[in-house]
Amino acid sequence: MTPAPGPSFRFHRLLPGILLGLGLAATGTVSLVLAAEPPPSQRSVLDGVFSSAQISRGKKGYESLCARCHGDALGGGEDSPALVEADFLNNWYGKTIGALVEYTREEMPSDGPGDLTRKESTDITAFVLSSNDFPTGSAELAPELKVLNQILITPRK
Ligand code: HEC
Repeated sequence: MTPAPGPSFRFHRLLPGILLGLGLAATGTVSLVLAAEPPPSQRSVLDGVFSSAQISRGKKGYESLCARCHGDALGGGEDSPALVEADFLNNWYGKTIGALVEYTREEMPSDGPGDLTRKESTDITAFVLSSNDFPTGSAELAPELKVLNQILITPRK
């Protein structure tokens, strides 16, 4: 005689439905997260991420703090590398603007680093990037690491 179906038997019949439900819930969560936060790679230095007013401020900062080593036209000096063209850009392609802003803030000027605020460093970096022919936009580049760390430095098309 066959034993009467017990609780475990019923659970097995329910299992596919439970799994399907969980699967749908998980899929729903994933698409909500994707909709709320676009992947970081979506913004790059090609999107016009700094403004012309910001470049002017950055240029002044560059002239007073950086030009004596890196040159008026950013072409480099005796012991200082150029901040334009291939040698410079190849060091930074694939990294974020945040990495460049923080490198500048922490390491430059090389003979007395650590005095730049993040805002000054962001403005000067905007000027350096614009000198590499990356496009100007209408909005300022916010001096916030959370934002800066999401904007990729990628080759011009
Ligand atoms: C006293 C000279 C001096 C001054 C002033 C100076 N730098 Fe530098 N900078 C250097 C040297 C030397 C290096 C190379 C450092 C190394 O290789 O470790 C360098 C490297 C850099 C790099 C990395 C270059 C690359 O190819 O990756 C950046 C960016 C930079 N400097 C930006 C600045 C900015 C912006 C300022 C002004 C706030 C500044 N520097 C001021 C000497 C200077």
